[in-house]
Amino acid sequence: MNKLIKLFGKVTLLFGFLWMFNSCSKDPNSAGYEYMPDMYRSPAVEPYVDYGELRGRIQKSVSNKMSVKTPPKYTIPYFGTNKEEVMLMLPYHRKPSSTSAVTHGLVEWDFSTNPQGDYDYQMAAADMNPIKITAENAEIILKKGKDLYSVNCKHCHGEKGDGQGSMVVSGAYVGVPNFVDKIALSDGQMFYSIYYGKGAMGSHAPILNKKEIWNVVHYIRSIQNPEYGKTNFMSTSVTTIVADSTKTTVK
Ligand code: HEC
Repeated sequence: MNKLIKLFGKVTLLFGFLWMFNSCSKDPNSAGYEYMPDMYRSPAVEPYVDYGELRGRIQKSVSNKMSVKTPPKYTIPYFGTNKEEVMLMLPYHRKPSSTSAVTHGLVEWDFSTNPQGDYDYQMAAADMNPIKITAENAEIILKKGKDLYSVNCKHCHGEKGDGQGSMVVSGAYVGVPNFVDKIALSDGQMFYSIYYGKGAMGSHAPILNKKEIWNVVHYIRSIQNPEYGKTNFMSTSVTTIVADSTKTTVK
């Protein structure tokens, strides 16, 4: 009887090991067989999950696509109750031209009703950067701008802003301007072009919030003029958006 129990124990152990090793896989990127997938994979909607593969089911139509990109229309990102911050996040009052639905994928946006296609772009020339840069906060603003630029723009516009980013050098992209040739371009038009896209450049509205874009505009100015921000020569309307609030990166 004792022998029988021992044998039973051994057999159970053997099967136990077999069961365990059975979960291994030769693929170094695979975690092996998942006995309880619910514990590894969240069933909640996750914004940046590739829903092409969910629990082993491949859905080709949504493969390699982020589930969330553009937030719902008129969404205002919440960064607190500072009035100037809230004002900055309100929907942009300059509208894209209706052709940008086709050229820049701005589907279901509110388009400019002016028949002149670039009317809003022309009007944007009067818009000033609402984030005031001073000798005191310049370092923080330009550092933030540089970080955003390095991640989102450098590959096309180049580290020095000369239009020689890696995408251009590799031959994959053409027509990227040198920022030195854009000195006359106003802050407002820069913002408009970055926000809605221009020519071969796509819209950055789904990627950067308005404050981040204005920050990058400051950074481009510093590329054009190394002295930019070092003296208090700027005078813009909003003064209370202080440098430490530039830390926010969430949309
Ligand atoms: C995929 C490549 C690409 C990326 C990424 C890109 N740009 Fe551009 N950018 C271009 C091209 C091409 C143009 C020229 C558009 C035209 O005038 O037809 C341009 C033009 C511009 C202009 C001039 C707009 C005007 O009104 O004349 C500014 C300013 C600018 N880009 C800033 C940025 C910033 C800031 C970023 C990052 C947030 C960025 N770009 C990302 C390709 C790119």
